[in-house]
Amino acid sequence: MFADTQPISAEIGVEISGVDGRSLTDPRAAERCRELIDEYGVVVFRETGIDDADLVTLSRMLGEVVVPRMGGQEDHPEVSAISLDPTKTVLAAYNQGTFHWHIDGATDEIPQKGTLLTALEVSDEGGDTEFANTYASYEALSDRDKAEFENLRVVHSFAAAQRLANPDPTEKQLAAWARVPEREHPLVWTRRNGRKSLLIGATASRVVGWPEEKGRRLVGRLLAWSTQPRFSLRHHWRPGDLVLWDNTGMLHRAVPYSPTSPRLMHRTTLAGDEAVA
Ligand code: OGA
Ligand code: MN
Repeated sequence: MFADTQPISAEIGVEISGVDGRSLTDPRAAERCRELIDEYGVVVFRETGIDDADLVTLSRMLGEVVVPRMGGQEDHPEVSAISLDPTKTVLAAYNQGTFHWHIDGATDEIPQKGTLLTALEVSDEGGDTEFANTYASYEALSDRDKAEFENLRVVHSFAAAQRLANPDPTEKQLAAWARVPEREHPLVWTRRNGRKSLLIGATASRVVGWPEEKGRRLVGRLLAWSTQPRFSLRHHWRPGDLVLWDNTGMLHRAVPYSPTSPRLMHRTTLAGDEAVA
């Protein structure tokens, strides 16, 4: 289907060149995307120049597309702008939160299944996106760790993630963060197909039944383990690149860039379709 398809490393990612945005609206292309996401976790299409309409068409063939409550584009409400510039998105203030390893929708009952992100404008400094495969990092744990983690549960909160970006919040900010309810998930997410991944990241605030400090240490240790170079990749964006990922197993973060950077991404989100178990 795609002539130039190169795996990026043994544990994560595949890169495809020579495909334009319009050809990704072919159902066979979408089917191949689905297979590649399952196999590699992160699928990088170089310089597709995909437009919003085609991005939405492709996204709909991959799953149920989330319509964000805020920040959608006028013509395409499914498409959010990701930028630190408040003139480009009402969510600019929250997007510093993307600088810390996270999965999207970790405080939802069912985290989002996938994310599609395309670069309209890139940053001169910073602004790469990094991904880490927690199916692979889980698999490589010792049997002792796997046994210990089997029944642990973790509380995820929006406030924990925002506090990393803004350690000194105002009362008003604290109140806004607290409006997003906390969510408890198992540390290890077991899929119907038997695959397992680690549900960790910036939102992970404590381990249920553990002293706070001990929980923080465990989450910190697992984050450091999972984001080692062997399980991760760093994508340096060119205009028109499109990256699709399995959000349920791929931690990700943006390498910090300036609020005055021209960096502008368009994004769609696929709703989760498998309960956390
Ligand atoms: C996001 C996100 C990463 C980036 O939009 O959820 O993590 O590099 N973006 O902008
Ligand atoms: Mn994200």
